[in-house]
Amino acid sequence: MSTIWQSLASMAAAGAMLLSGAMETAAPHNADGELLLVNREWRISERYVPEVRVTNIPGQLRKLQPEAAAALEEMTAACKEEVGAQLMSVSGYRSYDRQERVYNNKLKNVKGDEEQADEYVARPGASEHQTGLSIDIGQKNSKANALGESFARTKGGQWVAENGWRFGFIIRYQEGWEEVTGYEWEPWHIRYVGKENAARLHDSPMPLEEYIMLIRTERLMSLLEGGL
Ligand code: DAL
Ligand code: ZN
Repeated sequence: MSTIWQSLASMAAAGAMLLSGAMETAAPHNADGELLLVNREWRISERYVPEVRVTNIPGQLRKLQPEAAAALEEMTAACKEEVGAQLMSVSGYRSYDRQERVYNNKLKNVKGDEEQADEYVARPGASEHQTGLSIDIGQKNSKANALGESFARTKGGQWVAENGWRFGFIIRYQEGWEEVTGYEWEPWHIRYVGKENAARLHDSPMPLEEYIMLIRTERLMSLLEGGL
């Protein structure tokens, strides 16, 4: 085998190891912090309870991890100042048990049709809301339905889609990404990834799943460059 093929083969093997190793830790003591990946495949334990605090924005279920909470408060104030729209919380941190109740309610609403329920609501352990890094938001005093696509047409919804990255947030489930994220477009569900990651995702939009792969590949490349 030529040297280049040997390097590629070892890179692929190391990449797979790195990926699986990292994915397995998508749980309590994950070192990836703001890039913690939770989806249908990569679930978190029932026992995962992050440190959260109540944010000062209006609405219900307003808890997030401290760093994400501060970013949300900063973003909400900027939105008010820049376009005069007041954002509100519809649903932030949800424990495993609460997610179970949310899923079961949805299932009841769609008369037990699991496929339909799964389009919008994650099963317990598979929801980003359990990480304390995600929140569903709405615009206060607006006619838009809470958790409806009409939020994207409100002043606040438009502003968040364009400016959320400045505060470290991304719209996690976007149109055309359903195959990768597993969910329909949810303009109201924002996810904190930190300012640096959000800025990169603003410049090159892609699903978080793909971005995490990219970051891991970059880390691997730099390891290789340093002489693995
Ligand atoms: N609506 C998102 C997918 C959740 O339930 O976590
Ligand atoms: Zn959500």
